[in-house]
Parts: sequence; structure tokens; C-alpha cells
Amino acid sequence: MSLLMALRRLARVRFGELSRRTAAAAAGTLSSGGGLSGSRSFTAGTRTLRSDKVTINFINRDGEKITVKGSPGDSLLDVVINEDLDFDGFGACEGTLACSTCHLIFDEEVYKKLGRVTDEELDMLDLAYGLTETSRLGCQVCLTKSLEGIVARVPESVTDIRQSKDESA
Ligand code: FES
Repeated sequence: MSLLMALRRLARVRFGELSRRTAAAAAGTLSSGGGLSGSRSFTAGTRTLRSDKVTINFINRDGEKITVKGSPGDSLLDVVINEDLDFDGFGACEGTLACSTCHLIFDEEVYKKLGRVTDEELDMLDLAYGLTETSRLGCQVCLTKSLEGIVARVPESVTDIRQSKDESA
């Protein structure tokens, strides 16, 4: 994860989620930074052990199941990027809530466990192709251990609102 992405995510952190997300962001970004030596001992203490990883089953556009693991605190977009999954056009805005290309569909039981949907996410979801009652944006869903084994379906197509704007100009 790039430092820029981590900083963007930290900027969006809501108060109630602060400790969980901060620990994960620190583990993913500060460990390789040379200029933040004061944080090194903290980073080492929060590095995610392999056994702490969360299993996610993505169903791609061809209906194939792809099973990968992610760290608690990572978004599903982070997982797609880290695992180099080839979902064409996925995550075009790099998690800045500007495209809806990270649209994922969940089973109802899983959807209920994903946490609160912000108004900003709802606004962007309205523009997503194939929106369902259990749709979320992958860049806004962060992993927790309670999400172990979830299935996330990639819709058949994507809508990138930024391209629509570009084409109409
Ligand atoms: S990656 Fe663009 S809204 Fe999620």
C-alpha cells in the first residue's frame, strides 16, 4: 500500500473506528519508512501474524472463486491490490470514493456484518452498475476477523462515473 493511500484512508477514519484502522494502517505503511524511526517499535508490535489473516473468497466476472487472505483493517480494495487480482477496472480511483468501480455484492448475512455505510458511499453506490440491496464499495469495507470466509462477488460490469464525465466534456 502506498503511503499516499494510507494517508487518504487515515483522513477518512471515523472516531469509533480509529484504533482498529490506525493499527492496520501503521502496520502496512510505517514498517518500511525510514523517516519515522520513533514509530518503529509500535509498528513491530502491530504487524499482523499470518494466523491473524482473514480469508476472503472473491467471485470474479467469469464466476470463478478466488480465495485470498487479507489483514484485519485492510479494505477489500487493499486486498485486491495486494494480491494482484485481475478484476478489470476495479478500484480506479484508488479508494478516494470517486468512481464506484470497486462495487462488490455480498450475501445478506455478510452484508449485515460489514459495518455502517456512509452517505458518501451511498451516493457513489447509486452510480454503480448492477446495484443490489447488498452492494458495497470494496474500498470502504475493512476486514475484521468476523468476516472470515466471506464471499464477495464482483459485478458483471463496472461504471466509472469519472469516465462518463470525461466523455460528455
Ligand atoms: S475505488 Fe473508487 S470508489 Fe472505491
